[in-house]
Amino acid sequence: MSAPPKTVLEVSQEEAEAIRQAVRTADVSTLGERRERAELGHVPGLVALLSDDRVSGPIYDLPRPIGVESVTRWVTEGQAQALAGEALLIVSLDAAGEVAGYSRITVWPDRSAAELAGAMRADLQGRGQGGPGMAHSFGWIFETLGVRLMCLTAALDNIRVQKGIDGAGFVRMGERDAVRPDGTIRRSVYWEMTRDAWRMRHRL
Ligand SMILES: CC(C)(COP(=O)(O)OP(=O)(O)OC[C@H]1O[C@@H](n2cnc3c(N)ncnc32)[C@H](O)[C@@H]1OP(=O)(O)O)[C@@H](O)C(=O)NCCC(=O)NCCS
Repeated sequence: MSAPPKTVLEVSQEEAEAIRQAVRTADVSTLGERRERAELGHVPGLVALLSDDRVSGPIYDLPRPIGVESVTRWVTEGQAQALAGEALLIVSLDAAGEVAGYSRITVWPDRSAAELAGAMRADLQGRGQGGPGMAHSFGWIFETLGVRLMCLTAALDNIRVQKGIDGAGFVRMGERDAVRPDGTIRRSVYWEMTRDAWRMRHRL
């Protein structure tokens, strides 16, 4: 289960409602080429993608076991959460229209905060797309959804994603126990970044 950031911001009802509305209406095609909100038609592609342990192994908040039923429920819940302004489940498609990756953005409007998790198909990993892709997503989340804080976690041995997150300027704030849907714990590196710090870094 995704957990909100350690830092707690004071957030007005107006700000929280604006974030909910931004999540409901966000045009995810502005996040990147061939990005779509996940829907039931993507379930077979998502099952194929996530059945590969090189893709889903490092991610703590996926439904398990991966299968048509669990992924259907996950997509449906994601759609309901998007309507509530509290999450976006996004697929990226390859040139052939196959699901080649996914991102899940969890949003806490009343905390003005968000978390990102995601993965790309194994044949696309390790080609230098992850770092720039993550940085682009972080900027999109701050500027399009309007949150003022992001938190991230990664497995202690997931060096690739740790490099991408450190490289984007997120600040390490110790470790955290990430809780899987089955209740088991994964010890994780924990980071935060504020929108102000992001804008300073990128001179927005
Ligand atoms: C995490 C993920 C998105 C990263 O994307 P990627 O395209 O594979 O990563 P990159 O090729 O951009 O590499 C990122 C960094 O790790 C480094 N790296 C790549 N393979 C590495 C390895 N085996 N050991 C150590 N460092 C490695 C790269 O040199 C790069 O470092 P740099 O930023 O200093 O240049 C992708 O690997 C993935 O989907 N993994 C499975 C799911 C996952 O772990 N998701 C993250 C948890 S939320």
